[in-house]
Amino acid sequence: MAYILATGGLGFIGSHTCLELLALGHEIIIVDSLINSSKETLNKINEVLEFRGISAINRILFKKGDIRDLVFLKSVFQEALVNNKKIEAVVHFAGLKSVSDSILAPINYWDVNLSGTINLLNLMDKYNCRKIIFSSSATIYKPINSKLIKENSDLNPINTYGNTKLAIEKLLYDIYKNGSTKWAIVNLRYFNPVGADRSGLIGENYNINSNNLFPILIKVANRKLDSLPVFGNDWPTKDGTCVRDYIHITDLAIAHAKALNNVLQKNKEFLNLNIGTGRGFSVLEVIKKFKEVNDCDIPFHFLPRRNGDAPFVVADNSLANTFLKWEAKKSLKEMCLDAWRWGRHKTKSSI
Ligand code: NAD
Ligand code: UFG
Repeated sequence: MAYILATGGLGFIGSHTCLELLALGHEIIIVDSLINSSKETLNKINEVLEFRGISAINRILFKKGDIRDLVFLKSVFQEALVNNKKIEAVVHFAGLKSVSDSILAPINYWDVNLSGTINLLNLMDKYNCRKIIFSSSATIYKPINSKLIKENSDLNPINTYGNTKLAIEKLLYDIYKNGSTKWAIVNLRYFNPVGADRSGLIGENYNINSNNLFPILIKVANRKLDSLPVFGNDWPTKDGTCVRDYIHITDLAIAHAKALNNVLQKNKEFLNLNIGTGRGFSVLEVIKKFKEVNDCDIPFHFLPRRNGDAPFVVADNSLANTFLKWEAKKSLKEMCLDAWRWGRHKTKSSI
C-alpha cells in the first residue's frame, strides 16, 4: 500500500476518491484550503468506512492550506520525510472549476490552477515524488457533433477554465518529455461526474451559483426553484436537447485508484485518458429518469441555447479500458438515486 498526497481531497471528486483509496488500504495526506469544501467531510469519510467495516483513523491526515503557499506545501512534504514516510504519489484535485466564474475572474483561475500546480510540481521534484494523477476535463476538447471523443481528437477549450486545464496538461507533458528526471503522469479527462456515494453521507458541495444540470435538478426537486430551464430544444440530437456522458462519482473514484496503481508501477509514463461511460443521455432523458426513480416532480421549460454548449459530448473510453482495466459500472438510475439521496438533505443550505 502507498503513501499518497491528495490535494483538494475534501472536494467532490477528491472525497470520493480518498474514500476508495482508504478502502483499498492506502494511507493519505489530504491538503485542502476548504475554499469549496468542509472539514466535516473528513468525519463523514471515516463514518462511511466504519459502516463498511474498515478503520482508517490512523491512515488519514488532514492539513488545511493553500497549494499556492509554498512554505505550507513544503512543510507537508518535509514532515512526511521526517516521519520516514516518503510521499509516493500525488492525486491532484485542488483547483477552481466553475466555467462562469473563470470568465469573470481569469487571473484568479490562472493563479489557483496553474501557479498552484507549479508549486506542487516543484516540490514533488525536490522531494523525489514524480508520480501524479491530474484532474483534467473533457472541456479541453473542440466540440465534435455526434462522434465519440477520443484522446487524440482536436483540442480547443473555449473558456478560461478549459484554458487552465489544457495549459497544465501541456506543462505536464513538458516535464515528462524534457528534463533529466523521470515522471509517471496520468491526465484523467473527466466527462460529467454526478451522483454521490450511496451512503448519502458525502457528495458535491452545490454552491449557490452552481449552474450544472444536477445541482439545478436537485434545486427543483427541493422546490427551491419552480422549473428547470432546458437550454435549447433545437440541437441536432435524438430529442433536440444536448447529450452528455454522465459518470457516477464512485466509478470515477475507482478509475483514480486504478490510475494510481498504474503510476506506482511505472517510472516513466504519460497517459491522457477519457473517463466517461461511453454512453450519452439527453437533458430530457435525464429529467425523465430522475423523476421516475425518485418519484418527484420536475417541471421544466425551454430556453434558447446556452452560450458555449455543444450538442454531443460523449467519451470513447476504450483507452481507459485498455490501460486501467477499468470501465464504468453504474447506471443513470443509480446516478439519479444517489444524487437525490445526498441532495434531498440540502433543503436548509444554499441549495
Ligand atoms: P471541488 O471544488 O468539489 O473540489 C476541489 C477541492 O479543492 C475543494 O475541496 C477546494 O476547497 C480545494 N481547493 C481549491 N483551491 C485550492 C487551493 N488553492 N489549495 C488547496 N485546496 C484548494 O471540485 P471537484 O468537482 O471535486 O473537482 C476536482 C478537480 O476535478 C478540479 O481540479 C476540477 O477542475 C476537476 N474537474 C471537475 C469536473 C466536475 O464536473 N466536477 C469535471 C472535470 C474536471
Ligand atoms: N443544462 C440545462 N439546464 C440547466 C443546466 C444544464 O439544460 O439548468 C444542460 C446544458 O445545456 C448541457 C447539459 O445540461 O447540455 C449538461 O450541462 P452541465 O452544465 O451540467 O455540464 P457541461 O457539460 O456543460 O459541463 C460540465 C462541467 C465542466 C466540465 C464539462 C466536461 O460544467 O466544468 O462538464 O467535464 F468541463
